[in-house]
Formats: sequence, C-alpha cells, structure tokens
Amino acid sequence: MLSIKRRLWPGKSQAPSSSGIDVDGLTYTPPGAGRPALRGVSLSLAPGEFVALLGHNGSGKSTLARHLNGLIAPQSGSVRVDGMATASSGDLPAIRRRVGLIFQNPDHQIVGASVLEDVLWGMPAGLDPSEGRKRSVEALAAVGLDGFEAHATWRLSGGQKQRLALAGVLARGPRYLVCDEPTALLDGASREEVKRLLLGCRERGLGLLWIAHRLEEALPADRLIVLKAGQIVAQGTPRELIGVHPEVVLSLPAPVALARRLRELGVDLDSLPTSTEALAAELTALLDRPLQAAGAGGAE
Ligand SMILES: Nc1ncnc2c1ncn2[C@@H]1O[C@H](COP(=O)(O)OP(=O)(O)OP(=O)(O)O)[C@@H](O)[C@H]1O
Ligand SMILES: [Mg+2]
Repeated sequence: MLSIKRRLWPGKSQAPSSSGIDVDGLTYTPPGAGRPALRGVSLSLAPGEFVALLGHNGSGKSTLARHLNGLIAPQSGSVRVDGMATASSGDLPAIRRRVGLIFQNPDHQIVGASVLEDVLWGMPAGLDPSEGRKRSVEALAAVGLDGFEAHATWRLSGGQKQRLALAGVLARGPRYLVCDEPTALLDGASREEVKRLLLGCRERGLGLLWIAHRLEEALPADRLIVLKAGQIVAQGTPRELIGVHPEVVLSLPAPVALARRLRELGVDLDSLPTSTEALAAELTALLDRPLQAAGAGGAE
C-alpha cells in the first residue's frame, strides 16, 4: 500500500508553493455558437479540496471542465494549474498530467484492446517501460481492477469501464481530478463504487472538481459552485445552498428535505443529514437535549 501511495498519490506535504487550479475571468464562445458558453468565470480549486459544480443543461459546465486541463484554450481570462497557464503550450503536457479528466461516457476515454494496454497507453512519453507497467498495475489495483489486466476492454461493464478510465488517469499521478458527470450513465451499484473511489482519491490528497447531476454527489463537497448561462450565480457550502438557493436545482433526498422543513419551522439540526440513519441520529440527539436539561433540573 505504501508504494501505491508514493507512486500514485500526491500527498498533502508535496504541494508546490503556487498550488491549486485558478480560473480568472474566463470567457469563451464556442466556434459557431452565437453566444458565450462562459462569461467572466473565476474560481479556484485547492489541492485536496472537493468542489461540486452544478447547473442546468447548457449552463457551461463541460466547457469549463475542458478548460481546466487545457483541452480548450481561454479566449479571454486565464486558467493556471499550480502556477502554469494553460495558454502556454509548453506547459500543457505537465498540466495534463496534473489535471485528470473523467467524462460521463468512459467509452470516449478507452483506447486499448486490453485493460492493461489501455492504462499503459496514457503513460507519459519517455517514462521507463517497467516503471510505466508498475504504475499501471498499481492504478488498476487502486480501482479494484487487479486481475483484469488481460481482459478485453469491450467486455467490461459500464462501471468497470469508468473505473478503468479512472485508473488511466491515476497512473499518470495527477494532483486534481475533474469529473464531468462521471456516474450519469451507471446503474446504482456501479455509481456507488465510482463515487466511493472518487471520494477516496480526495481523501488521499487529490483536488476534486465534480460536475454533479445528483444531489447525493454534491453533499460531501467542501463547496458548491452553481453555473447559470455561463456565469457563476452561487457559491457556498452544501449547508448554505442546498434547499435554500433557487438555482441549486437538484431534487432533495427525503432526509435533506425533512431537515430543511424542520429548519423552516425553527428546528435547526447540527448538520445536514444525508441519509435516513443520519437524520435519525440528529433527531435523537435533538430529543435528548430537553430531556437531559429536565433531568439536570430535576436533580437540583
Ligand atoms: N462545440 C460547440 N459548438 C456550439 N455550441 C457549443 C459547443 N460546445 C458547447 N456549446 C454551447 O455552449 C453552451 C454550454 O455547453 P456545455 O456543454 O458546456 O453545457 P453543460 O452545462 O455541460 O450542459 P449539459 O448539462 O447538457 O452537459 C451550450 O449552449 C452549448 O450549446
Ligand atoms: Mg456537460
């Protein structure tokens, strides 16, 4: 495990002095489009931070994601990754190693005939082949695909393909993951597995920008950013925005909806419960409070 940690994960102490992704005043009109897809967008992602990006269809989320590793160059404004500008073509290879992109459809990312070939394909040019192979095998183990090295990629399930896409990115030793609705095409069990893996990456020190289409995915984020028609219209913690801000458009799971309703009625829970169990624990703690007070009073 230690060797995996050293090779694949950045570790919080190794962050460069000018670290993080910084987007400043980004404006972009796609070729042939009549209006900008992004208008004056500024945001940051620190190493180890989890930011969830939300917004209606067509609000500019994917266009923004593609700017973050230089797939799209800014027309105006800037994107800097650990101090390197994506507008500087000489820095693009280093930027692309640092910022891994995961798309909705893993078929768009898989190029190898076998699982191992696919991960090897993305290794940086000039890397010693035995080192590339070690990293690939470790990345496959990190996403639970050890033992699948020789499998044909076309035979993998959707969830396995998405885990393979993640392995391909992890094998390059990124500092940041930008995930564009990575679970949208997956069934329930695969979705949970990919979510668990991505949150695990964040725990190991990777910055995570997750374009979320389900509220459960945004709830554990440090911050939410909401895009509307190419502009940021809200930023804040999940607790500040979910069920409160009109542009946080995702539907609320029942425990969150009930917590919000209680808040409206003047009963403020300590945290935002994201599961029935968490809600039950909050309510139990709430009910215990007056009882303890009464018990204390009765003893006097
Ligand atoms: N290559 C392109 N040519 C023309 N218009 C484009 C192009 N790419 C994006 N757009 C337009 O830019 C806007 C933002 O698109 P984008 O795909 O970034 O939105 P999104 O928030 O990711 O949407 P979705 O939720 O559907 O994935 C949309 O109006 C879209 O039609
Ligand atoms: Mg999109």
